[in-house]
Amino acid sequence: MSENAVLDYTEIGASIKASYSIVASKYRRDDEIEITTEHHRRLKGILGSMTSSFGRPISVLDVGCGTGRYFYCLNNVEQLIGIDLCEEMLKIAENPVRQKEVSVKNIELRCENAHLVSFPPQSFDVIYSMGMFGNGCPVTVEICNKFHDWLKPGGKLFFDAVDVATLPTAKRIRRKIRKAIYQFLPQRAKRALDEREGSVPFCDLSKRELERIMRASRFGTASVSSHVCQSPLWQGVHLECAASKG
Ligand SMILES: C[S@@+](CC[C@H](N)C(=O)[O-])C[C@H]1O[C@@H](n2cnc3c(N)ncnc32)[C@H](O)[C@@H]1O
Repeated sequence: MSENAVLDYTEIGASIKASYSIVASKYRRDDEIEITTEHHRRLKGILGSMTSSFGRPISVLDVGCGTGRYFYCLNNVEQLIGIDLCEEMLKIAENPVRQKEVSVKNIELRCENAHLVSFPPQSFDVIYSMGMFGNGCPVTVEICNKFHDWLKPGGKLFFDAVDVATLPTAKRIRRKIRKAIYQFLPQRAKRALDEREGSVPFCDLSKRELERIMRASRFGTASVSSHVCQSPLWQGVHLECAASKG
């Protein structure tokens, strides 16, 4: 995605929703494969210790929860709200993977667009988002500020995003040049570039870009790391971002 491109989240959301509605039941079958991977086990560990760290029952928001792949990884959760654009994914999340191991007391699933939804301030102790930022879903200062507002003081944020390193070198260089020149282009050329991205723009990021976004957000600081993902379902590089509300 070109930096400074103005995205119509409603329109892009409709395309994302359509693409996931077709694959929802396959996605649920893939949950069974994905949870056996080293990559998933590491993320399970992170979410497990993050949710245990409060030492009391907590409230959690899973943004882009899909079929609820991570529900069973959470500890000590009183209230979990899972939001997703796609009703079909949410329907399947009613019976998530390793359902018998899900210890959450109350789960509420809502069909919402992460960029457009709002919650009252200080609603959650933990907000996490796995696999949502990338396809048509950019990490922005605005969404990070929303996460900050929705967290209680001392609350924790964890999300992943697609690292630009996932792309082959030639494509990466082309995208870098495009990002650098985008703001200087006339409107018509900008529109042409945006159209070439298709209905769901690919929203990759470098570690430095994500750090810059987090610095510009109300979080101010964050820990960002890059991880190669060796899953039979997806091979690429993920950025992982952890931050807390002071
Ligand atoms: C790759 S799946 C990941 C699902 C789940 N978090 C997991 O890790 O298995 C991405 C999910 O994010 C949802 N999604 C994408 N953009 C979204 C947005 N703007 N708001 C809410 N959900 C979104 C999609 O509908 C899809 O279910």
